[in-house]
Amino acid sequence: MRIGLLTGGGDCPGLNAAIRAVVKRGTSDLGCSIVGFNNGWRGVIDGDARPLTRDDVSGILVHGGTMLGTARCHPHKVDGGMEAVRDTFDNEKLDAFICIGGDGTLKAAGKVSKELGVPVIGIPKTIDNDVVGTDAAIGFDTAVSVATEAIDRLHSTAESHNRVMVVELMGRHSGWIAVTAGIAGGADIIIAPEEPFDIGQIVKRIKHRHRYKDFSIVAVAEGAVPAEGTKWKGGETLDAKGNPIAGSIGTEVTKAIEEATGFTSRLTTLGYVQRGGIPTAADRLLGTRMGFSAIDGIVAGETHKFTALQGEKIVLEPFETMMGKTKWVPEQLLHAARSL
Ligand code: F6P
Repeated sequence: MRIGLLTGGGDCPGLNAAIRAVVKRGTSDLGCSIVGFNNGWRGVIDGDARPLTRDDVSGILVHGGTMLGTARCHPHKVDGGMEAVRDTFDNEKLDAFICIGGDGTLKAAGKVSKELGVPVIGIPKTIDNDVVGTDAAIGFDTAVSVATEAIDRLHSTAESHNRVMVVELMGRHSGWIAVTAGIAGGADIIIAPEEPFDIGQIVKRIKHRHRYKDFSIVAVAEGAVPAEGTKWKGGETLDAKGNPIAGSIGTEVTKAIEEATGFTSRLTTLGYVQRGGIPTAADRLLGTRMGFSAIDGIVAGETHKFTALQGEKIVLEPFETMMGKTKWVPEQLLHAARSL
């Protein structure tokens, strides 16, 4: 079989592990040819392809990012995009695609397989961890480790200066990184989009804590929003598409806390650091396992599915499981974040 392979959406650590697994398993064990497309669906539309061999993927396991490059491009949203994907599929004499991406890229993959009748298997990656149907997406574990280390480091400087340290973490729609790294790093206040916040309550909790401690750590997800009806004087934090403007909710929360408490407050916006660098062992393993499952599935004739970690197993789930949905942080974790 000839299989097209691409990575789309925001990059993250662990993508190369998945690419390597698809290429090694596909070429050595299953007799496949793997065609790599540069820059996600953009490369498929443009026919920007190259063959991938074992040699090409040798040594990439520990590298962050993606050797194929990536782009936020969805063929169904580009004029003539779907037709161009069909043309490339035919011109390259492909039998299937394996597409590694987050919710947008996988949704596009679902449309390609359904509307063009082309076999596609997806592999979920996103540091946001918000893909429904899988316990984890590639990249999340590394992002949580980076964020937890940042919170650890903020503790000593917060304590030395008696400051409130606000750290803004990625998480466009859901607050997986803020909640899990916040709990793991011992943040005093954790603010996630799942629970719109009341700045009055946050201020009250910080004032209470400062009766016996001189510093606080506040972890806020970039997608966090104030609850309706609460006294919030902060500025706009979302862009016209409803996506968070990086650094804005952190800035507003920091200002509001300082004004209301009188405690010196500082903001750290962790940003793209969470998406860069070497993958953790867990992400290398997840990428490898999902890569194997995707290529095995395609060769076995599976299509219109994505690889999903469910308990101890990697299974194949229909794209419909995740399309148009968001995996929210569950109440049990939110409860821990509130209570600690
Ligand atoms: O890939 C997920 C993510 O890192 C979000 O957490 C963040 O809001 C967004 O991507 C940033 O997007 P971009 O890379 O387009 O700036």
